[in-house]
Amino acid sequence: MSSLMVESTTKMLDKWAALINSGSQEIDVEREITATAGEIIAKTSFGISYENGSKVFEKLRAMQITLFKSNRYVGVPFSKLMCPGKTLEAKKLGKEIDAILLTIVRARKSSNDRCVQKDLLGLLLQENGVDGRLGKMLTTRELVDECKTFFFGGHETTALALSWTLLLLARHPEWQNHLREEIRGVTGDKEIDFTKLAGLKKVYIYIYKMLASLEIKMGWVMNEVLRLYSPAPNVQRQAREDIQVDDLVIPNGTNMWIDVVAMHHDPKLWGEDVNEFKPERFKDDLYGGCKHKMGFLPFGFGGRMCIGRNLTMMEYKIVLTLVLTRFSFSISPSYSHSPAIVLSLRPSNGLPLIVKPL
Ligand code: HEM
Repeated sequence: MSSLMVESTTKMLDKWAALINSGSQEIDVEREITATAGEIIAKTSFGISYENGSKVFEKLRAMQITLFKSNRYVGVPFSKLMCPGKTLEAKKLGKEIDAILLTIVRARKSSNDRCVQKDLLGLLLQENGVDGRLGKMLTTRELVDECKTFFFGGHETTALALSWTLLLLARHPEWQNHLREEIRGVTGDKEIDFTKLAGLKKVYIYIYKMLASLEIKMGWVMNEVLRLYSPAPNVQRQAREDIQVDDLVIPNGTNMWIDVVAMHHDPKLWGEDVNEFKPERFKDDLYGGCKHKMGFLPFGFGGRMCIGRNLTMMEYKIVLTLVLTRFSFSISPSYSHSPAIVLSLRPSNGLPLIVKPL
């Protein structure tokens, strides 16, 4: 999995180098990284090509925008009647996505190596094929739903965490240097050339050693980015009984949206420097100095906490390490800061940066 991440990222960075060589310095890093993260999730979860994956992503993005225009009515009775056009449009896109994923699942189910491929779909099919298994078998429909969740949850959030990181590092070049120093502490002065490491096993050992050693400053930076620009801006829950909160009663069945972005920017929880980029607040403190241990929730909480967080951390460190060892970056004059919640928290005008080879 990690070598697929290295491969896709290296391909992206080679493209950046070619673009810079041909005279353009400005790169929309959000677009680039989202495409690469999409390629990574398509390959690692379903063993499918980017070409096939990108058809799903395009439709998912269109559905995301369509749904967002009507999702303020989630939980409101007859809400579908309030936005009939959008509801129909989302339904049509949903059917098209299902059709693509159904083809992928059916092809894998009927092929001889259905369980050999050790990607997410292979593992799900393998579990389904175990004789005498007590649990419930997943239907094809459920397999398609699992694929959708991973496709949707698995690439945009990670890509956004990386994109916001590049923006903040562009604004704080001293942190680019801190991270390069940390990386050099692991790799020495030479450029990391994964292709020179003969044999897959060696690559795995090297990458895992590297990831373990990048826990410190890169970990603080990741937490600080997830605090300031939480890619998943809210978490939902439903009350299963009447809940008393001070003088307020939340009735059984109420849908609640927990505003993670607001919590992460609350000076009462974080202090007056709440809006500043200060990765060091996470030094020796898992909660970054937050006054409440439920005040920092980038991956949610409890039994429904994000199951992809370890995968994200791995991808984040691999991609960031490769970018930082080849390029430096600063903010492009054409960048206009406009974070917007479109289900996820995105830079609504893209994220152009001036990128220079080191
Ligand atoms: C920076 C990256 C990511 C962020 C910020 C993020 C954030 C979240 C949040 C806030 C939740 C809701 C948790 C809750 O309700 O308590 C969630 C759930 C989930 N995430 Fe992630 N996520 C990220 C990456 C990923 C990746 C890479 C995958 C899969 C490959 C993934 C798969 C899921 C799934 C399947 C759930 C639903 C879990 C459940 O309902 O039991 N996420 N994520």
